[in-house]
Amino acid sequence: MIVTIDGPAGTGKSTVAKCLAERLGFEFLNTGAMYRAVAYACLQRELNLTDEASVEEVAKGLQIVFSESRLLLGGADVTDAIRTQTVTRSVPIVAANPAVRRQLVQLQQIVGRTSNLVTEGRDQGTDVFPNAECKFFLTASPRERARRRQLELKGKGEIVSLEDLLEQQQRRDRLDESRACSPLQPASDALLVDTTEMSLDEVSNHLEIIAKRALNLGTA
Ligand code: DC
Repeated sequence: MIVTIDGPAGTGKSTVAKCLAERLGFEFLNTGAMYRAVAYACLQRELNLTDEASVEEVAKGLQIVFSESRLLLGGADVTDAIRTQTVTRSVPIVAANPAVRRQLVQLQQIVGRTSNLVTEGRDQGTDVFPNAECKFFLTASPRERARRRQLELKGKGEIVSLEDLLEQQQRRDRLDESRACSPLQPASDALLVDTTEMSLDEVSNHLEIIAKRALNLGTA
């Protein structure tokens, strides 16, 4: 059984998907982290990210493993390193590379074949798992999403203005929504949830009730 949670950054996807996976006893897959790992590896090699063939080559050679909520790249723990502003700014270019997407989608589908999954990203309900039993698409107002990102960065000791974050976010959304390959958009059968006025707990509870109903797992 597969539950997909798609939507732009700052809508609470990762936290909610992780929480829902725990409550359902499913595996959790953070597909954004996979694209971040590829971007990080390319930056480490000082590659020009628009050089699609070189980026593809690097992606092919990577060993991406999730282990107890950590992401290992060729055995090295890069969980925190893939969350820097530099990686965040670079990753949409890598995520628009069709060869990289083909490769990561294949990996994601292998995981989905062997386990019950709550998976989050941008294309999980549209391209990766079109037959998923339950699909969500989370949204929130741009200002609220930027505010959440600001809080997250503050927690890591990074102070960034809301205006800067709004601008970065707009640029990233534009790239994610306009790329030719799997642009960010809701699946036609996804349930849209606006999280602007909701706490993460409220979103998790809401999704749990709907997912359990869709998956015939009894009520929450
Ligand atoms: O969710 P995130 O911010 O960690 O995602 C990082 C980038 O990867 C973002 O630019 C969108 C892209 N992405 C994607 O294109 N497809 C996915 N399934 C997941 C993320």
